[in-house]
Amino acid sequence: MAEELIRIQDLCKSFGSKEVLKNINLVINRGEIFALIGPSGVGKTTLLRILNFLETASDGKLVFNGIHSSHKIDARRRMSMLFQTPAIFNTSVFNNVAYGLEVRNADKNTIKEKVMNALNIVGLPGKEHQKARTLSGGEAQRMAFARAIVYDPDILLLDEPTANLDPANVAKIEDIIRRIRSERGTTIVIATHNVYQVKRIADRVGILLNGELIEVNSKDGIFTVPKDARSEAFIRGTMIY
Ligand SMILES: Nc1ncnc2c1ncn2[C@@H]1O[C@H](COP(=O)(O)OP(=O)(O)O)[C@@H](O)[C@H]1O
Ligand SMILES: [Mg+2]
Repeated sequence: MAEELIRIQDLCKSFGSKEVLKNINLVINRGEIFALIGPSGVGKTTLLRILNFLETASDGKLVFNGIHSSHKIDARRRMSMLFQTPAIFNTSVFNNVAYGLEVRNADKNTIKEKVMNALNIVGLPGKEHQKARTLSGGEAQRMAFARAIVYDPDILLLDEPTANLDPANVAKIEDIIRRIRSERGTTIVIATHNVYQVKRIADRVGILLNGELIEVNSKDGIFTVPKDARSEAFIRGTMIY
């Protein structure tokens, strides 16, 4: 049985007079990989930023694990977000990855163990002393991934994490996503415009179009019997937008 982890209820977001998200209703289940797909500019990043409390909704509510989102500090501590372009602090790889543990006041030994483990998972063992600024683009994104998972969040929000990467690094990141979910049971919400990526890693899918969530379906459902003609056009790549 699916266990509800995040409930998004009647959520709306406007920037000035521009309505970016229109009455979004969605439940994310514990331990699933949920893909949020849709063309550029439909509001994927905005929705992830609202989930991560980086942005406030204009209307509606968010419930995490049955807790109303007014308990935002609690929810935030158990969540992390990876952006399309990694933020790199001008220090060693180790310090970059350790950041989330340091702000949580972890002790030195725990920090060392968890950072090394995270670097192993993302395929960067032995890079801990390197200056983060000297990493390649793919390595930098994997380092940012290590930073996002180092404190073992319940929820991982990924905003087009492979959009700027070469195919080899795309495959590595997708492997890491699958591994984190299977080893730790992390709930993952990934925004992407890449239909093939959805096919490779998602359990369920939501399609955003013009600020509306037009369809939520299992991956198999969306690729075989989409409920909405616009979903089908998007999936097949025949949509003009
Ligand atoms: N801070 C902001 N102020 C004004 N408009 C914004 C802001 N952030 C995003 N938008 C607009 O909201 C829309 C959705 O953006 P975004 O969520 O980034 O889409 P996506 O991630 O799907 O490409 C776009 O039209 C964008 O220009
Ligand atoms: Mg975006």
